Amino acid sequence: MRILGIESSCDETAAAVVENGERVLSSVVASQLDTHGKYGGVVPELASREHLRAVVPVVRAALEQARIRLEDLSAIAVTEGPGLVGSLLVGITYAKSLCFVSGVPLIAVNHVEGHIHAVILEARGRGEVIPFPTLALVVSGGHTHLFECRAPGQYRLLGKTRDDAAGEAFDKVAKLLGFGYPGGPVVDHLAPFGNPTAIRFTRAKMKGNTNDFSFSGLKTAVLRWVESRGMEQEIERRRELLRTNPRPAPEQWLEVTPAPTLDLLASFQRTVIEELLRHVARAAEQIAAASIIVSGGVACNSGLRQAASAVRLGVPVYFPTPGLSTDNAAMIAAAAFIHLERGDFSAMSLTARANLPLVT
Ligand code: KG4
Ligand code: ZN
Repeated sequence: MRILGIESSCDETAAAVVENGERVLSSVVASQLDTHGKYGGVVPELASREHLRAVVPVVRAALEQARIRLEDLSAIAVTEGPGLVGSLLVGITYAKSLCFVSGVPLIAVNHVEGHIHAVILEARGRGEVIPFPTLALVVSGGHTHLFECRAPGQYRLLGKTRDDAAGEAFDKVAKLLGFGYPGGPVVDHLAPFGNPTAIRFTRAKMKGNTNDFSFSGLKTAVLRWVESRGMEQEIERRRELLRTNPRPAPEQWLEVTPAPTLDLLASFQRTVIEELLRHVARAAEQIAAASIIVSGGVACNSGLRQAASAVRLGVPVYFPTPGLSTDNAAMIAAAAFIHLERGDFSAMSLTARANLPLVT
């Protein structure tokens, strides 16, 4: 059973072919970083335009690399939501037209379910079975969600962010300090050069569901810290560097980043990681999880990976490889496999749903 996956919910146009939900035959990702980088974030209108340009060659490349013809596919899966409507529509419209001409059935996939399946896919590929129930933390630029997953396809929402997603906090803090977009990878590279305990940020006090996250207070605390230190000159030097080189290497960033700022980055990253893992540990205990899955762009963070292995959560913790942590289509094709097994196909009236929840 081979499924073509198409993903276009944000700023990556991706297509992949996955066999039996466990073997990636091809995975092609066209990133729009160069388009959005100079604006300090994703510009929705530009994203749709870039998806329109990329979707046909990206799908063609995925089919060619997998050496499969359209008619030989068991299904075509596409991200229905959540995401940017204009971007989602490009993938959905193209997927529907491919189904129409080939007679292959269509499967709609929730992007968040895709992130969870990135991990299940890789474990299956290694011949490993992830023990259920599992606690899934999906942590990216758009999501910070905790789910109980009793079996693939069965989810219960345990908690989510009440304001910014963790990746969004990385991006906003980096932008504020002149590091450009996306901020997560830069902070990840520079944090090891700073002292993570130099600044102690106070933890957000939450009422109600204690599994919920909040990152906007931390972002404001970083803003106050920056304002009180008069850092305009060094921030301007970094913006200058970005104007001459849209993607500076870590060494170049280090030349324009003094020690106190490295301490700030390290302390910020430590606080985010502690917040994520504190919630993970508590929720895993609540549901008596047999394993933990961490996925989404922030799952690339090396500090988070190290901390997760060091805190000994008592059960195995699974991260996807970095290429499957950020947005990709292999995860969409993998998630579609369980829909295919259940005969859960989509009508040709499928449309984009910007706020599609995983659990209703
Ligand atoms: O999953 P993803 O590609 O797209 C969304 O669904 O949002 O995640 C992108 C997010 C961005 O906010 C980016 O800054 C963050 O993931 N990110 C990281 C790292 N790599 C990407 N955050 C922290 N450390 C990283 N190494
Ligand atoms: Zn994502």
